[in-house]
Amino acid sequence: MTNAFEQMNAMYRYQRYFYNITRKYYLLGRDQLIAQMNIRAGENILEVGCGTGRNLIILAKKYPHTNFFGLDASSAMLKTAQDKIDAQNLKNIVLKTGLADDFNYQKNFNLDKPFDGIFFSYSISMIAAWKESIAVVLANLTRGGKFYIVDFYDQKDLPAWFRHVLKNWLKKFHVQFWNGLLPHLAGLETQGLGKLKITPVARRYAFITEFEKII
Ligand SMILES: C[S@@+](CC[C@H](N)C(=O)[O-])C[C@H]1O[C@@H](n2cnc3c(N)ncnc32)[C@H](O)[C@@H]1O
Repeated sequence: MTNAFEQMNAMYRYQRYFYNITRKYYLLGRDQLIAQMNIRAGENILEVGCGTGRNLIILAKKYPHTNFFGLDASSAMLKTAQDKIDAQNLKNIVLKTGLADDFNYQKNFNLDKPFDGIFFSYSISMIAAWKESIAVVLANLTRGGKFYIVDFYDQKDLPAWFRHVLKNWLKKFHVQFWNGLLPHLAGLETQGLGKLKITPVARRYAFITEFEKII
């Protein structure tokens, strides 16, 4: 049986070379998320499923005095990311191989305190263990820290044929909108763990969530 590390490396072995160009047009909402993130100098910010490092590179240039970290199951994607980071001589990004549902700020990143912000950009839709991953994220986030997700939504405000074609296309890449995801986050808010904001993007093509951990 292949594990998540092998599965992601197999999927991205060749795709990683043209990943950023092809995804530019349909991973909507990524720049909107980057624009809304409230980031300060000296903070530690993690992207889970950072892929070729597209978001981290934009952020590291925008906030040169903030420390950025990337975690990904695919060492092949991280190799491409590291090459891009080195080519731009960015010193404030650290990448590590690992799984969304099994990481720790001390063990994987050698940090002495939890992250100030953690985000998923078009990665949670590939992670079957999304519920466990959210629990791990919250355990690795400081009180008052923010946890963001941008990903495919339910496309309910778009034509049915479009919704159908997109859903079938995404299935080929093991990508799906988890119906239980937003109710789960809302449940965490109800339990008093944090404050949730959900923003639909492009007629519910995608969504952005912002969850502020309050305890
Ligand atoms: C569609 S790409 C998105 C890359 C990047 N976040 C972006 O916005 O361009 C999804 C990434 O999630 C990673 N991934 C998938 N499952 C994962 C898991 N369980 N743990 C960590 N990373 C995972 C994949 O290897 C891939 O690099």
